[in-house]
Amino acid sequence: MPFTRKTTAARQLPIARKFSIISPFLLTTELNSVHQATARAHPNIAFIKYWGNRDSHLRLPASSSISMNLDGLFTETTVQWSARQTSDTFVLNGAAQFGAPLTRVSAHMDHLRQRLNIIDKAHVESANNFPTGAGVASSAAAFAALTVAAVVAAGDQLDERELTTLARLGSGSAARSVPAGYVEWHTAKTHEESYAETIFAPDYWDLVDVVAIVNTTHKARGSTEGHSAADTSDLQPARIAGAAGRLAACKTAIRDRDFDAFAQVVEHDSNLMHAVMMTSRPPVFYWQPASLALMQRVRDLRADGVRVCYTLDAGPNVHCICVRDDAAEVKAALDGMSEVIETLTAPAGGGVQIIARR
Ligand code: DP6
Repeated sequence: MPFTRKTTAARQLPIARKFSIISPFLLTTELNSVHQATARAHPNIAFIKYWGNRDSHLRLPASSSISMNLDGLFTETTVQWSARQTSDTFVLNGAAQFGAPLTRVSAHMDHLRQRLNIIDKAHVESANNFPTGAGVASSAAAFAALTVAAVVAAGDQLDERELTTLARLGSGSAARSVPAGYVEWHTAKTHEESYAETIFAPDYWDLVDVVAIVNTTHKARGSTEGHSAADTSDLQPARIAGAAGRLAACKTAIRDRDFDAFAQVVEHDSNLMHAVMMTSRPPVFYWQPASLALMQRVRDLRADGVRVCYTLDAGPNVHCICVRDDAAEVKAALDGMSEVIETLTAPAGGGVQIIARR
């Protein structure tokens, strides 16, 4: 038994550790028993959105969603289980975290400790290769990488489906960052049934997300709070009633590589989610004048034959989804707009990868 599980029993690192400071032999023993793994996960952009939960504690979504992982952008997270720590610690982009970010990570470690039958605390270090506040949701990549690194560091092997359900407990959209490519996350009444799976491999269709960054300040209201407010909108029941139809249309459009059908349903689904946000009580407006200017520009480009459509998450930045052959033209058009601070370009990406373990 490499380290500390609850014995029928909780897992804990060997007691020998406590003598490691005075004994070189035991120090070696300790180093050998370090259980650490590093995972890399991509953020994802939803084509059919997740907004609102039927169970917010378990993050069981009100409707199913579809997304694409964003290659080139990633979070790398190292988890080290340690019997010596009396509480979890969390370092993000080189800075020790306290308060709400640490509490959220630690609450997720509690879920993982329970599933893995571990009592040890963990040291977590995470870094994004994309700017925080770039309008690319980081919690999806963060909780996908954290979940997989923690499980592998514990020496456990869980199947992908279960990993997606565990990642979901940390952040709903993280379920979609575990599998590769184009992913569907299923709404369901139970924890086990609300999982995510690849519906098409990354190379099935060469879509690219050109993210137009118009604002780098923090969200008006975080997603978790927004999900709980969704039901206060009179429009949410109508949005949910039509969600399965939009999901089916989106899946068919991807299957057929039918960009026109894809653009119609993706823009419509984004508009519906933002209508719910704007009509929640209290309301939240993520769109800014710059967002509207970009949405109009994207529609004008499409009218001119460029295969591009827009979608926005819980922020003002505009994700312009296009086919690879049109990506350079889309990027040039967006870079030429005074509202755009910068653009990031990401094709469809793979799933979580383990990049180190010891
Ligand atoms: C607008 O997954 O960030 O990006 O479960 O509270 O962490 P939590 O919410 P989160 O919500 C994502 C909302 C969205 C739409 C989407 O990605 O489907």
